[in-house]
Amino acid sequence: MSSTISDTISEQPRPLPLPLPLPREKKCPFGPAPEATEIRAQSRVVKVTCPTGIDAWLVTRYADVREVMGDPQRFSNHSGQAGHVLANMPPDSPVYEGDFFRMDGPDHIRFRRVFAPAVSTLKRIELFRPMVQRTVDGLLDGLADAKEPIDLHEQFAKPLTTAVIAELLDVPLADRALFHRVAEALFSGKTDVDDLAAARFPLFEYVQDLVVTRRTKPGEDALSVLVTRGQDAEIPFSDIELIKMAAGLLVAGYDTTASLITYGTLALLDSPEQYALLHENPALVPTAVEEIVRLLGVGAGLLRVATVDTEIGGTPVAAGEYVVVAIQAANHDPAEFADPEHLDITRKHNAHIGFGHGPHQCVGQQIARLELSTALATLARRVPSLRLAVPLGDIEFKTETSVAGPVSLPVTWDEVLPAR
Ligand code: HEM
Repeated sequence: MSSTISDTISEQPRPLPLPLPLPREKKCPFGPAPEATEIRAQSRVVKVTCPTGIDAWLVTRYADVREVMGDPQRFSNHSGQAGHVLANMPPDSPVYEGDFFRMDGPDHIRFRRVFAPAVSTLKRIELFRPMVQRTVDGLLDGLADAKEPIDLHEQFAKPLTTAVIAELLDVPLADRALFHRVAEALFSGKTDVDDLAAARFPLFEYVQDLVVTRRTKPGEDALSVLVTRGQDAEIPFSDIELIKMAAGLLVAGYDTTASLITYGTLALLDSPEQYALLHENPALVPTAVEEIVRLLGVGAGLLRVATVDTEIGGTPVAAGEYVVVAIQAANHDPAEFADPEHLDITRKHNAHIGFGHGPHQCVGQQIARLELSTALATLARRVPSLRLAVPLGDIEFKTETSVAGPVSLPVTWDEVLPAR
C-alpha cells in the first residue's frame, strides 16, 4: 500500500482516490492513517478524490493546516464540513438560512457572538461543574457492583455526554433518541442528503417548540440565552436561525465528546504507566486532556474551498478548488510535536488543533474539556484498577464515520472507590 502511495505522489498531479476518513491502523489505533503520515512526510499537498467524487487538495502538515483554517479570506467554509467530504452531500449546495457552520465573515461572526455567552463563558462552565461531577459519580456508583465487564462507551461515556447536553439546553433526557439519530446520520459516511433531511426534520420540529417556549418563558439554560440574546441582537435572529443553532449544539456536542472519553480511556489503559501517573498526580488532568485531544482528535478531514487563486506550501490552488484539512495528521506532525505518536500526559508544548483553528473553531470546547477532565480524573481517582477486559487487538473501531473511536470498550476492575 505504502509504495503505491509514494509512487502516485511522485507521479502527481493525478488525483489519488482515497477513502476518507482514511482507516486508522488496527495495529496502532492511536495514530492517523499510515497513508496520511506518508503523504505528510512526502509531499506538502496532494490532490485526492473524495468518496463523494469531488477532487480536493489534501493538506496534512501542521503549519499548512493552520494556515488554511486560519485564513477565511482565502479558504471559505461554504463547501460544508465533514459530511460533505464523507457522505453523498454536494459541497456546492446553497447555504440556507441559519447554516452558520457554512458561513464566513460578518454573517458567521453574528452567530458566534450569540453562541459565546450561551456556551463558552467561564461562568457557564463553573455552573456546570458540579452537575458533571455528580453525573460521573452517579454513573460509576451504578456500575460499581457489576459482576461482568461493562462497556465504558455505552454505559458511561454516552450517558454522561447526553446528560450534559440535555442539561445545557434544559431538554428532557427522555428525548435523547431524537438528537442521537441526527448525530449518527450527520457523522456517518453512509448518509446522503435525503437521509440527513429525514433525520433532521423531527429534530427541527422538536427544537422549534423549545424556541417558542423560551421566547415567552426564558430560563437560565443555554437555549434561553441564545433566544434572548438573539432577540436583542442588532439583526434579530429568526426562529429558523435559532433552531439551527440549538440543533447544532444538540448534535455536535454529544458523539464527539463521548467518543473521545472512550478513546482517551483506551489510550490511557494501553499505557498503564500514564494511567497510574494520572492516579498519583491529579494535577496532570488538564495536560492529559489536551494530550488526548491532540493524539486522538476527530477523525475525518474538514472541507474548505479556495475563494481566490492562491497556494499552499508552494502548490498552486485555484479559486473554486476544494481543500481537505487532515487535523489528526497535523496534530502528529513531528515538525511541531516532539515524539508525536507517543501519549505523554505531561506534554508542555501542545498547541494542538483538535478543536479546529480560526473562526470556526469549536464553540463547545470548554464544555468538552470539562466533561473529559471530570470523566478521566474521576476514573483515575476512583477506579485505579481499571483495565481492558479484552486484548487491544479485539477492540473494534468505528469506520466510515467522521468521529473516530472504539465501537465499544469492555473494561473491568477490582474495586470502585467511593466518591469524595
Ligand atoms: C471532544 C469533543 C469535541 C471535539 C473534538 C470537537 C471538534 C470540533 C472541531 C474540529 C470543530 C471545527 C469545525 C470546522 O472548522 O469546520 C468544531 C466545531 C463546532 N463544535 Fe465541536 N468538538 C467537540 C465538542 C463539542 C461540544 C461539546 C459542542 C457543543 C456543546 C460542540 C459544538 C460545536 C459547534 C456548534 C461547532 C461549529 C462552530 C462553527 O462553525 O462556528 N463541539 N468542533
